[in-house]
Amino acid sequence: MQLTHRPRRLRRNANIRSLVSETSLAVSDLIYPMFVMEGNQTTEQVSSMPGCFRYSLDILLKEVEEVAKLGIPAIALFPAIDPSKKDNEGTEAYNPNGLVQRTVSAIKKAIPELLIFTDVALDPFTTHGHDGILSEDGVILNDETVAVLQKMAVSQAEAGADFVAPSDMMDGRIGAIRQALDSHGFEQVGILAYSAKYASAYYGPFRDALGSAPKSGDKKTYQMDPANRREALKEVELDIKEGADIVMVKPALAYLDVISLIKAHTTVPVAAYNVSGEYAMIKSAAQMGWIDEEKVMLETLLSMKRAGADMILTYFARQVAKLL
Ligand code: PBG
Repeated sequence: MQLTHRPRRLRRNANIRSLVSETSLAVSDLIYPMFVMEGNQTTEQVSSMPGCFRYSLDILLKEVEEVAKLGIPAIALFPAIDPSKKDNEGTEAYNPNGLVQRTVSAIKKAIPELLIFTDVALDPFTTHGHDGILSEDGVILNDETVAVLQKMAVSQAEAGADFVAPSDMMDGRIGAIRQALDSHGFEQVGILAYSAKYASAYYGPFRDALGSAPKSGDKKTYQMDPANRREALKEVELDIKEGADIVMVKPALAYLDVISLIKAHTTVPVAAYNVSGEYAMIKSAAQMGWIDEEKVMLETLLSMKRAGADMILTYFARQVAKLL
């Protein structure tokens, strides 16, 4: 054949392929989500997330040291709260001596340079498991919830969080939290906004990990409809106007088109959350011997980078760091 272009010329060997590769995955792109619980010297395996554990604070501190040594720049912290501390309004969320607040200040004391992202949403703290305050007629109250989220974010900043990460999907919370942080002197604390967060079945294992599954109903009146794409842009635009430093798409794998769309329409960094269900699918298929775990893991995370993610929250972070 007389071919002007033979694309295979650029795939001939590993060195050529490395010169022309468009995307790469690095440890410096990763944020590692970790679960903390009350107690001493306790580690509990999360059954639907092999390789992920709930740690008591003393053990978590040792684990976090290893995470930092691996070169992972940041962790995202999620608490498993004792049921006796939960109520309808999630008041434990802004207890200055709460589990998250104590954990953040202990980590900051031990490893100041490791970045800590704290989750801002009420679900680990409410008896009903919703991200906001539940009214008697079953409605999640927006503005009342935002007032609690402001206090929660400020208490996390006081403890030393570098970024607060509102994952609740209430309207107007980014602007309200920005204002609360600034008025308390935390203008250097950033906001990673879960802007396009979908009402997804992929969060199941995470809710097992925290015992935070909603006791009634679902989250469809605040999290987004998986059918929607343009609405993600609207949420992102609002969050950026209100002061988001970084915007996020969640879940990642079934929403690569949304990551790509948002990347093309914004100038702030874009994060993707490789969520618990995505992690569990790879782990379980690998345990069955049906897929090559490491290759599928790396290919999956690379696809998120290729779609446009600047950073990825992933339970695979430690495994990736050991490999790369
Ligand atoms: C809570 C929150 C959830 C996740 C992160 N923050 C669950 C939910 O919205 O129900 C899910 C993370 C994962 O599945 O890995 N606001």
